[in-house]
Amino acid sequence: GAAELGPYRHYMQKEIFEQPRAIADTLEGVAGIVPELFDGLGAQPGETGAAAWRVFKEIDSVLILACGTSYYSACTAKYWLESIAKIPTQVEIASEYRYRESVPNPRSLVVTVSQSGETADTLAALRHARSLGMEHTLTICNVATSAMVRECKLAYITRAGVEIGVASTKAFTTQLAGLFLLTLALAQSRGLLSAEAEAEHLKAMRHLPAALQAVLALEPQIISWAEDFARKENALFLGRGLHYPIALEGALKLKEITYIHAEAYAAGELKHGPLALVTSEMPVVTVAPNDALLEKLKSNLQEVRARGGVLYVLADADTRIETGEGLHVIRMPEHYGALSPLLHVVPLQLLAYHTACARGTDVDKPRNLAKSVTVE
Ligand code: G6P
Repeated sequence: GAAELGPYRHYMQKEIFEQPRAIADTLEGVAGIVPELFDGLGAQPGETGAAAWRVFKEIDSVLILACGTSYYSACTAKYWLESIAKIPTQVEIASEYRYRESVPNPRSLVVTVSQSGETADTLAALRHARSLGMEHTLTICNVATSAMVRECKLAYITRAGVEIGVASTKAFTTQLAGLFLLTLALAQSRGLLSAEAEAEHLKAMRHLPAALQAVLALEPQIISWAEDFARKENALFLGRGLHYPIALEGALKLKEITYIHAEAYAAGELKHGPLALVTSEMPVVTVAPNDALLEKLKSNLQEVRARGGVLYVLADADTRIETGEGLHVIRMPEHYGALSPLLHVVPLQLLAYHTACARGTDVDKPRNLAKSVTVE
């Protein structure tokens, strides 16, 4: 009801603005010795960290299974897991994995990512992996009493709180926080996390609520972008590296609630197809963190401009990308390093939200979609 919504118009908007709190709750009590954060189901009291540690010591790879927005948090985590924990990682759409013939690896850690913990395809994919002899299972899940949590050996419960909007927002960023912790835990168990590196990562994590708050303050600028988007029927999202899955998630948010056709591409793939779509009627949203790929990304932006495409760029502080003809820039307050995806996704959530409001769609209950897909 209206009372619960407080100052917000929709649950989605409320949930976007709850992210600093959701992340703070999810990270509460995180103070080093990361494996202890993972609950070992069936472990003796006081032994939960040890149960996780045993599993982490035995595995040689990670297989993540998920659907929808949860699949995109998993795709982001692949970049972290391979670069920080140096562990080979595969991410699969649950409905594909469950029905294809794959090569099982009993030493793989099977991770399911799910807000609800009840998504039929993700549960079936988990059971399929187990039937193939993969018994090291872990879930990153927002519902502690869910089937996913009951059926996995280890669990990390995100504390997003109840999410009502069909388009997932705070569940996504808390999943990213959980997946980042998993990365640190695996790095630690593999002897790859120095005390200094751990302290630095934990410091960056503790800064997240304040950093998110600063990004949420960009809302008025996003609203002015949304006025342009509301009149479009197509949009392209670009990102590279860690932010490629964020571009995918931004496009998903936009199509789910505004019904604008949106697709995302790894910016380096632009010339292999989507460049043919670029005209002045095609807004191109670009996630531009100040990372090692920035110069490459800037030349991708040139390619779009040269074809008359209109760019909407989320640029980190100190990227030297400036607003100009056909180029709209919103500057992110800082540069966030490895945790940047948690921050860069927020303006994309707000863009979808305000574009949907401008188009008058049913934001919290988009047509044809359900919050939790418990049947195939
Ligand atoms: C549905 C929801 C999405 C969600 C997906 C996976 O499609 O509309 O928001 O990302 O299911 O749900 P899960 O609960 O497994 O994360």
